[in-house]
Amino acid sequence: MTDLGDLTDRSVLITGAGRGLGRATADALASAGAIVHLADIDFERVKAAESELISSGLRAHAHQLDVADEASVVATIEAIAPPLWGLVNNAALADAVGGQSFWEIDRGTWDDLLGVNLTGTWLVSKHVAPIMMAQGAGRIVNLASDSALYGSPRLSHYIASKGGVMALTRAMARELGPHGITVNSVAPGLVVTESTEDVPADRHQLYADNRALGRTQQPADVTGVIHFLLCDAASYLTGTTQVVDGGFVMA
Ligand SMILES: NC(=O)c1ccc[n+]([C@@H]2O[C@H](COP(=O)([O-])OP(=O)(O)OC[C@H]3O[C@@H](n4cnc5c(N)ncnc54)[C@H](O)[C@@H]3O)[C@@H](O)[C@H]2O)c1
Repeated sequence: MTDLGDLTDRSVLITGAGRGLGRATADALASAGAIVHLADIDFERVKAAESELISSGLRAHAHQLDVADEASVVATIEAIAPPLWGLVNNAALADAVGGQSFWEIDRGTWDDLLGVNLTGTWLVSKHVAPIMMAQGAGRIVNLASDSALYGSPRLSHYIASKGGVMALTRAMARELGPHGITVNSVAPGLVVTESTEDVPADRHQLYADNRALGRTQQPADVTGVIHFLLCDAASYLTGTTQVVDGGFVMA
């Protein structure tokens, strides 16, 4: 059990929970007492995660979800018995997406990435919002990226999607604030996860040379902040982007 903040009996939907930061978030929140709903386009991964969490005495449910498909979003949310305390919009095309300048990216690649990372964040939030408004309470945390603030080259569709997520966060925070719901973004730096294994060495070196903190960024550095945003201590924080990158961009 972590001492960050108690989430006992609070249900939280985490998209893209099959691996990486989503899976680490599910582990952290379940360890804090939450009932975690792990949703991913890769159902085998979330099913395996569900089994591991349950065998550790924690509460978890696996769902197959394509955040870019509204029917899939609706079906997943209908399968979750309210109340739903939290939503972590983590699912994204984040693996092997870099390498091309903006003039080299083809239209289909651009649309697919924006469809998952930005439209998917909007779609899941759109269908969760009425549940949280009926409750008069809730928390939404959107995964952005510090690359959108830094302006990382050869990643323009990805950073455009994450810039959009930060802007959407502010609009959602204003619209949902009167309903007692907070909405914040978390913008990680370059984290040691499966998805960053193929990031070029020069980009790893750029972060190593320019972080205020010397060490590499681990998933727990991010999941701790997501956890905090879901806790009572963060109840007056909304519309923010928490840049969690060891002081790389310092926005
Ligand atoms: N790892 C990093 O360094 C880093 C840095 C900044 C931001 N982020 C952001 O954090 C989040 C998690 O990143 P990660 O590194 O764990 O990525 P990852 O690629 O390891 O995991 C993403 C998960 O999303 C799932 N997914 C993809 N498309 C989906 C869809 N249409 N519907 C539902 N699920 C889908 C994948 O199956 C996968 O399990 C992403 O939003 C990413 O952009 C990561």
